[in-house]
Amino acid sequence: MNPTEVRPGIHWVGVNDRTTDLFEGQWPLPHGVSYNAYLVVGRKVALIDSVKAPFAEELLDKIARVVDPNRLDYLVVNHMEPDHSGALPVLRRVAPGAEVLATASALPMLARFYGLTRGVRAVADGETLDLGGKVLSFHPIPFVHWPETMATYEGTERVLFSCDAFGGFGALDGALFDDEADLAYYDPEVVRYFANIVGMHTRPVLRAIEKLQGLSIEVIAPSHGLVWRREPGRVVDLYGRLARMEGEPAVTVVYGSMYDHTRQMADAVACGVTAAGVPVRVVDAARVHPSTVLAEAWRRKGLIVGSPTYDTGIFPAVGQALRLIARKRLGNRVVGLFGSFGWRGGAVGKLAGLVDELGWELLGKVEFRGAPTADDLAQGRELGQAVAERVKG
Ligand SMILES: Cc1cc2nc3c(=O)[nH]c(=O)nc-3n(C[C@H](O)[C@H](O)[C@H](O)COP(=O)(O)O)c2cc1C
Ligand SMILES: [Fe+2]
Ligand SMILES: [Fe+2]
Repeated sequence: MNPTEVRPGIHWVGVNDRTTDLFEGQWPLPHGVSYNAYLVVGRKVALIDSVKAPFAEELLDKIARVVDPNRLDYLVVNHMEPDHSGALPVLRRVAPGAEVLATASALPMLARFYGLTRGVRAVADGETLDLGGKVLSFHPIPFVHWPETMATYEGTERVLFSCDAFGGFGALDGALFDDEADLAYYDPEVVRYFANIVGMHTRPVLRAIEKLQGLSIEVIAPSHGLVWRREPGRVVDLYGRLARMEGEPAVTVVYGSMYDHTRQMADAVACGVTAAGVPVRVVDAARVHPSTVLAEAWRRKGLIVGSPTYDTGIFPAVGQALRLIARKRLGNRVVGLFGSFGWRGGAVGKLAGLVDELGWELLGKVEFRGAPTADDLAQGRELGQAVAERVKG
């Protein structure tokens, strides 16, 4: 994508990454991701964030189409994660006079990640920087996503450069702005990004939303995904709902199955949810990455988990997904459990232990030996219905 003017004097100069398979070395990127960087051009010029190191040349080319990169006066580092800071060594060589601005807690990271100690300055909370015609101010939002993270605000055009906050996975498919894009593609990518990347930090996200509300914002320009100019409140609402772990009034059925017994029950449970007039999604935990299960579970208030007993415990793919969900501390779920066993069982009991640890509301369990009987399946439908009724109310 070409450099794109977001507002007069403010240009997107980011890149699309369609080749990295695993974000942070572990989260699959089936639709890629963008690293958004922005030029703010007043009499002085600031670059807000950069890109992952392999894309530094592309970033420089884009900057050069707006201003001579040598002319950069400031490099604003909202966040030290290398998907945004990786091009700093190249930028320092190209624009040796540009001052690096970051929070105080970013300074040791700049030194240890890139050896940058000279021409580096810590900015204070609320500090302003007059670029001549454009005015930046700096607003730390710790732990969205790292302790040193801040957002930068441009006051004349009312643009918030929110970094990871309000970001999403998904490369930019030819459109930069929310009013040009297919939101049916981006919304699930925002949810998956939130759950996988910032989901650990729900309280910091809510604090950031509250803090940034004090600014008059017309455009939200995050460092991943779309720029929100038609309805910036939309992505803030979505982040708020995800951070409060409200969950849509819908149900996710997550299961694993070796020989179809548990799978038959998953279908019965899902039919029960539908019978109660509630949307349901069925996910085979062995066939998707745990990060997908996490995102599906984060989206919906109801969660019904099924597992056959395997070596006295939970089926590995189901256990792996649930451990990830537990590690991310997803709360506030209404749940049901089911599973088949061959001789002594154990999976459903262990799942119940996990549910208890997480403080989720357990509405019922259906554990059965071998193939489900008609009576077992009827109980499964009832379980689906019960969870559905609870998430509706
Ligand atoms: C490798 C393996 C390990 C198993 N371990 C146990 C076990 O420890 N306890 C038990 O009761 N059943 C065990 N079973 C039996 C299954 O739980 C049982 O066949 C169940 O009906 C499988 O459900 P599914 O068809 O949904 O996979 C095991 C089965 C397999 C293939
Ligand atoms: Fe990050
Ligand atoms: Fe990021």
